[in-house]
Amino acid sequence: MKRSRVNEIIREGDAFIRSFGYIMPPFAYWTPEELKSRRPAGIVDSRLGWDITDYGQGKFDELGLFLFTVRNGSAADLSRGRGMLYAEKIMITRQRQLSPMHRHNVKAEDIINRGGGKLVLELFMPDEAGNIDRHREVEVPTDGVIRKLPAGGLLKLDPGESVTLLPGVWHAFWAEGADVLIGEVSTVNDDLTDNVFVDPIGRFSSIEEDEAALHLLVSDYDRFIDGKA
Ligand SMILES: [Fe+2]
Repeated sequence: MKRSRVNEIIREGDAFIRSFGYIMPPFAYWTPEELKSRRPAGIVDSRLGWDITDYGQGKFDELGLFLFTVRNGSAADLSRGRGMLYAEKIMITRQRQLSPMHRHNVKAEDIINRGGGKLVLELFMPDEAGNIDRHREVEVPTDGVIRKLPAGGLLKLDPGESVTLLPGVWHAFWAEGADVLIGEVSTVNDDLTDNVFVDPIGRFSSIEEDEAALHLLVSDYDRFIDGKA
């Protein structure tokens, strides 16, 4: 994906998020240079910030997601069992834009429709090996109430509704009727290791640099801030 397109998606996403009265934290608006010179560990090492992904496939409009990680705890706290064990993201899924089927090993996540259209999730339970179970009935908590669906059933969430996805539950999602602002409240998040996709795809975009970055993406940090390949 071209950097100019990423910049455009950031501008559009910021306006969409603000239209619901949600405002991102100050570091969202730091320039790449400011982030590099200040380099707060609580932002860079916790991998907070912008995350515009086309899953490495170069067709963002059909396969992609806008994410911004607002807060994230630490793996060390998680293994200790106390401390900052949680994370929060704000996301946008567009109409006709798929977030592909995946599951997590560690992360439990509440996926919340914060406004816009309907959020549609396709769900499967895992089999004993962790693979998709194409027969087992799906059982998920939705705002405290257990909802049962056939394997591969579609759960449709209206604004205000949410679902709790425990580790192992397979999910893909998209928007229906209008773009959707999604909240995610979860266990500590590690996007480098904790996403298992059904299809062999990436988690991040590969960027073609055709103009200067408006803001760095989390996936830019290693290279732009820490000088790693
Ligand atoms: Fe997920």
